[in-house]
Amino acid sequence: MRAARKSYSVAVPAAACANKRRTLAVGVLLGGLLLPGALKTAAAEQLAPFEIVGDAIPLALDGLPGDAERGRVIVLDRTGGNCLICHKVPVASEPFQGELGPDLAGVGGRLTAAQIRQRLVDQSRLDRATLMPPYYRVDNLTRVAAPFQGKPVLNAQQIEDVVAWLATLKDQERP
Ligand code: HEC
Repeated sequence: MRAARKSYSVAVPAAACANKRRTLAVGVLLGGLLLPGALKTAAAEQLAPFEIVGDAIPLALDGLPGDAERGRVIVLDRTGGNCLICHKVPVASEPFQGELGPDLAGVGGRLTAAQIRQRLVDQSRLDRATLMPPYYRVDNLTRVAAPFQGKPVLNAQQIEDVVAWLATLKDQERP
C-alpha cells in the first residue's frame, strides 16, 4: 500500500494526488459508516423472507414441511428453545414445566398453524411487552453470545417442526 502510493506520487502531479487521497479518505469514512448496515443485511439474509397477515404468517418458512415428531423433541429440549421454562405441555413425563406463559395443551385448537408460526417467529410484533422470546429474529436482540450472533434461536426448519407439533395439540386435556 505504502509502496504503491509512493510510485503514484512520482507519476502524477501533486494536486491530482492530493485529490485522490481526499477521495480515498471519504471512501474510508463512508465504508466505516456503511459497514454496520452491510452487516445487518448479511444477518437478515440468514432469515427466510416471510409475510405477516393480521396476526399470522400463512406460508411455511422457506416452504419447508414441518415434522411434528422433531418439533416435539425441540420443544422438550431444555438446551435450545427452552420452552418449558415458561410453558406447560401435555407431556406427563416432563418434570418442572413453567407457568409464565399459557399452557400449550390445546394450542392447536385455539390457534391456526399460521398464528402459531407468527408467535414463534416474533411475538413482540403483536405485543411489544411480551415475555415470549423472538425465535426467528436476528436484529434488536440484547446480550447475544458471540457464537449465536446473526443467527435466529431456531432455524426455519425447526420453526416449522415446532409449528407442526403444536398444531397437533388440539386437546385441552392433559395425559
Ligand atoms: C421466557 C418465557 C417464554 C419462553 C422461553 C417461551 N415462551 Fe411462549 N409465551 C410466553 C408468554 C408469556 C406467552 C403469552 C403471550 C404473550 O405474553 O405475549 C407465550 C405465548 C406462546 C404461544 C401462544 C399461546 C397461546 O395460547 O396464545 C405459543 C404457541 C408459544 N408461546 C410457544 C412457545 C414455544 C414453542 C417456545 C419454545 C420454542 C416458547 N413459547 C418459549 C413466554 C415464553
